[in-house]
Amino acid sequence: MLKTSDIKKIVIAGAGIMGASMAQIFARFGYLVTLYDIAPESVEKGKNLVAINQRALLDQGEVSESLSSETVSRISYTLKKDIFRSADFVIEAIVENMQVKLDFWREMSGLSRDDAVLTTNTSGLSITEISTAVRKPERFCGMHWVNPPHIVPLVEVIGGEKTAEETVKVVYDVALSVHKHPVVVHGDPQGFLLNRLQYAVLREALHIVEKGYASVSDVDDVMKYGLGMRYACIGPFETVDLGGLDTFFRVGSYLLADLSDAKDVLEPLAKLYREGAYGTKSGKGFYDYANNGAERAIEKRDKDFLKVAKCLYGDL
Ligand SMILES: NC(=O)c1ccc[n+]([C@@H]2O[C@H](COP(=O)([O-])OP(=O)(O)OC[C@H]3O[C@@H](n4cnc5c(N)ncnc54)[C@H](O)[C@@H]3O)[C@@H](O)[C@H]2O)c1
Repeated sequence: MLKTSDIKKIVIAGAGIMGASMAQIFARFGYLVTLYDIAPESVEKGKNLVAINQRALLDQGEVSESLSSETVSRISYTLKKDIFRSADFVIEAIVENMQVKLDFWREMSGLSRDDAVLTTNTSGLSITEISTAVRKPERFCGMHWVNPPHIVPLVEVIGGEKTAEETVKVVYDVALSVHKHPVVVHGDPQGFLLNRLQYAVLREALHIVEKGYASVSDVDDVMKYGLGMRYACIGPFETVDLGGLDTFFRVGSYLLADLSDAKDVLEPLAKLYREGAYGTKSGKGFYDYANNGAERAIEKRDKDFLKVAKCLYGDL
């Protein structure tokens, strides 16, 4: 298997929200990146996403004109599968569907070189199960990025049952090489770490709204102005240490029984889902995104994330 320092050519499958954003990170740090997709219109969308992100970074003074144009010049696009033959490192960021991912990997791992490192950006599907379709699965690993990857530092690195330790190490080091903050996840749990934590919070947020204890926007405010600000700086265990384990023990002993332990997606989200209200991508979710509201929401999120990231971690 290739060493981290031998990795030069990255192929990212899926020129969507995640693929287009990841491509910019690798290109910015000198890798040659090819975005592969099955649909010509997706390639066009990917190019457009890269242009939008680069413009936002330039507007924010995050990159110089020359760095931005060098970054863009290192990204190429293709619809041809042959590209997998020359890849040193592959990131699959195609649709979140087990069968589609199995079909993809059966074919592309067959094309890839034996020494190439192969990764999937699945949000939480089993790495072990996906790896059943991978030729030489010891070089296959989960590499889970957070949207938008060109700004958010965390990368989860997840080995499956057949993943070699060496593979986990290379993927971890590749994440470090593009100034990300990798964390290794053990045991291939569904949802890895971030989504397990995220869904625990989302379940209780939906429960609060369902019970009528607060509105959707008030729950969002509690996170933004309280917990979220805290969690940008310290994690749950640091919070407990700073607040006192005795207090957290006492509160936990009466509060936990009152929290939701629902096994299904709660009704406030399920109802919107049934109505086709998918959020910014459909123009309506918990909030309304008519009249360019989606573009404004994405732009505001990226600007705010950049401010926080810059403030806490310095230059991206
Ligand atoms: N969007 C997020 O917030 C997020 C965060 C972390 C991880 N992920 C994961 O990343 C992956 C991609 O998510 P996304 O949001 O970028 O999706 P997306 O829908 O924006 O992009 C997916 C792209 O994959 C392409 N595609 C589909 N099948 C393909 C195939 N067989 N070969 C090549 N290209 C194919 C599509 O044409 C599309 O361009 C999913 O596994 C998702 O769960 C998403």
